Amino acid sequence: MKKLIAGNWKMNGDISSATSLIRGIEAKITPDLQNTCDFVVCPPFVHLAAVKPHLTSCRLGAQDVSEKPNGAVTGDISAAMLKDMACDYVILGHSERRQFHEETDMLVAAKAYAANAQGLVTIICVGETETQRMADQQNMVVEGQLNGSLPEGADAGNTVIAYEPVWAIGTGKTATAEDIRAMHAFIRSKLIEKLADGANVRILYGGSVKPANAAEIFAVADVNGALIGGASLKPEDFLGIAEHS
Ligand code: PGA
Repeated sequence: MKKLIAGNWKMNGDISSATSLIRGIEAKITPDLQNTCDFVVCPPFVHLAAVKPHLTSCRLGAQDVSEKPNGAVTGDISAAMLKDMACDYVILGHSERRQFHEETDMLVAAKAYAANAQGLVTIICVGETETQRMADQQNMVVEGQLNGSLPEGADAGNTVIAYEPVWAIGTGKTATAEDIRAMHAFIRSKLIEKLADGANVRILYGGSVKPANAAEIFAVADVNGALIGGASLKPEDFLGIAEHS
């Protein structure tokens, strides 16, 4: 399975920096890297149009989508709008949205259903908090999120799972290789139970991935790529991670 290297640019930058960033990333993607990795960048909504003309090897993704098709939903963006903007991917259920926007598993599933209906591939994020891990509840939490967030019709073609322990996001802390192995194996077993092609769903790891820890993370079984926040804002770090795939 080719690794998926996904950049989550979060709420950073402006049109000028977003343009330089995608140009810098594209300039560094070699044919060798394209043989081992697929790339996607997820800028803020208002920078998608500026990034789009500079894409050659990377696919475009968004960081959220509405569960509704159109109409009186002030401030939201529909899956059809993302498709029209040439997006192929959308990140859903990121812990920052679950935390700051109180997104539930049920809402994530509705958003994923709407995204899949427009042909978008969803990157559905799951992961436990530090308190939950300390109480050894990580498997229960992640299983609940998988059960609640995967929409009807999810399959290996339209769905990617990103395991992001909340305590590792933006903190510089990463889970140990053994913690990642155990959780990815657990997620894989649940996907196989739930979906006919669950063995082929990509499972990404996310949370303070950087060039210095990428080799160890990518060596873990069932790690099929990375969802990268902070380090995706520097072309040399984003590609430095991919080089270890
Ligand atoms: P980070 O973010 O790489 O900055 O920890 C990952 C994410 O939130 O997707």
